[in-house]
Amino acid sequence: MKLTTLISAEELARRVAELGTEISAKFEGKRPLLVSILKGGFIFHADLTRAVTIPHEVDFMGVSSYMGGTESSGTVRILNDLSQSIKGRHVILIEDIFDTGLTLGYLRNHLLLRSPASFSICTLLRKDRTDAADVPLEYVGFDIPDEFVVGYGLDYDELYRNLPEIAVLELSGD
Ligand code: IMP
Ligand code: MG
Repeated sequence: MKLTTLISAEELARRVAELGTEISAKFEGKRPLLVSILKGGFIFHADLTRAVTIPHEVDFMGVSSYMGGTESSGTVRILNDLSQSIKGRHVILIEDIFDTGLTLGYLRNHLLLRSPASFSICTLLRKDRTDAADVPLEYVGFDIPDEFVVGYGLDYDELYRNLPEIAVLELSGD
């Protein structure tokens, strides 16, 4: 296992502050609901909510799309649903990473059925891959190469979520 820093804690903090400013300006007076997808989105969400300066609420959803390895299992399961109705609300879905787009594509369609006033997605990372699903992403923190990354909420087999930076994890080579 080898970890190589891709995005430092300082770079993350700077970009999260920018996203917070952008979201605050866009949703002024609208009391948006920032929904994060557990578990991967929890650190990004915790930092972003403090960077958003307008009144807003938070909520959480638990989903599972990976079975513990580095490849998508192809299915999305809702493990924990929202604690409230989102009808008429301005929902911003917070996600750690857009990889195949399977998770966000599924959740977007699923949550739009609940008639929010608006729906946008804020993903910290977007992987550079040509075969990803076509899902509108309103806010993207960083575009990254198609590598397996960990840290700042992202895991490999439930480990490394606590790393303060984003690092590429190489599984081979010892
Ligand atoms: P997607 O459905 O393929 O876009 O994958 C979304 C989910 O897969 C993310 O929320 C992550 O939990 C997980 N995932 C995808 N790529 C990575 C990665 O590079 N590191 C850690 N988790 C990842
Ligand atoms: Mg994961």
